[in-house]
Amino acid sequence: MKEIGVGVIGTGFIGSKHAEIYASLEGCRLVGICDVNQERLHAQCEKLHCRPFTDYRELVERDDVDAVSICLPEANHVGASVDCAQRGKHILLEKPLATSLEDCDRILEAVAGSGVTFTVGHLLRFDPKYAQAYEYVRSGGIGNIVQVKAQRNGMISAGYGAGRGTSVMFHVGIHDVDLMLWFADDSPIRVSAEKADGVLGSLGTEDAVLSTVKFRKGAIGSVGASWVLNDRLGSGVNASMEIIGDKGYISIDLGAERGLRVFSDSDGWLFPDLWHWPSFGGTMGGALEAQLRHFLRCIREQTPPLVSGAEARSAVAVVLAALESASKGVPVTLGS
Ligand SMILES: NC(=O)c1ccc[n+]([C@@H]2O[C@H](COP(=O)([O-])OP(=O)(O)OC[C@H]3O[C@@H](n4cnc5c(N)ncnc54)[C@H](O)[C@@H]3O)[C@@H](O)[C@H]2O)c1
Repeated sequence: MKEIGVGVIGTGFIGSKHAEIYASLEGCRLVGICDVNQERLHAQCEKLHCRPFTDYRELVERDDVDAVSICLPEANHVGASVDCAQRGKHILLEKPLATSLEDCDRILEAVAGSGVTFTVGHLLRFDPKYAQAYEYVRSGGIGNIVQVKAQRNGMISAGYGAGRGTSVMFHVGIHDVDLMLWFADDSPIRVSAEKADGVLGSLGTEDAVLSTVKFRKGAIGSVGASWVLNDRLGSGVNASMEIIGDKGYISIDLGAERGLRVFSDSDGWLFPDLWHWPSFGGTMGGALEAQLRHFLRCIREQTPPLVSGAEARSAVAVVLAALESASKGVPVTLGS
């Protein structure tokens, strides 16, 4: 079977991980990486033995590039996605789909017209804990969903590093919004939210947002997202989710039950990542690898990806409603 030629656009925090995984996956070939940061770009290309590009259009013009991971800042998602779809390239776009519904629709229209495989990086659906929980929910094991309650806390270095010009809900909370919608399998009809911004407000982002959602069939959900925890906590991200059904209960806790903790005199307690993108012997695995493998399989077998563009748009709609509610101090009703 022909190898799938892949390009990675943006090689910052998450794009460097996409590139590293593609470089080691069978059945695909990492053709090139694009980034405007020359130093980072050349270091990555040398390490992974692929071609450097500073203009992504030159990368996606190539006939040997069949698919791309777009790992650019949020503001660049719409332009790059439309360009890649118009050139007939299969796309894995990092979350969020976009930060306005108009931009979401521009992307989805371009994708629909091109017939390419398109998916959005809602990574946690590939984390075995959430994937197992989903199987229980869909098998009817906990009955009808009554409530989904999620909280995700980032470190303050992430707030300062990634917070400028974005919302904690787009960077952090949207992961749980996507999971909540996936588990509830129902349409959100009303969103209310509050925010705190005493620490990071000067960057144009929030310290924390707490949002609640009412679903059409009666269930309720809440997503809390923050990024002001002291880095010395050592956990990277800590998160929890409870799913309450009328016949059962599921609890996911990424704070207390990490399974591995390390103490060093210099760094204190560390809780290394075992699920998202753990690295062993120079090979990166975890949920991100599972997501990239899935993307390649969908291209090869022409099957629909686990995360559709429409689902990614719904998550954006809930986040936008939460941010509007938090700003105006009133609940926001979502259209059908
Ligand atoms: N799935 C996840 O768990 C996860 C985690 C982190 C980030 N993300 C998402 O991934 C996206 C990227 O986030 P990040 O943290 O990697 O950001 P980042 O700032 O670390 O990386 C972005 C890279 O894009 C490059 N870039 C910017 N404009 C460019 C252009 N026009 N052409 C080429 N390169 C350009 C920058 O130089 C930088 O290297 C965001 O949408 C973010 O929400 C997802």
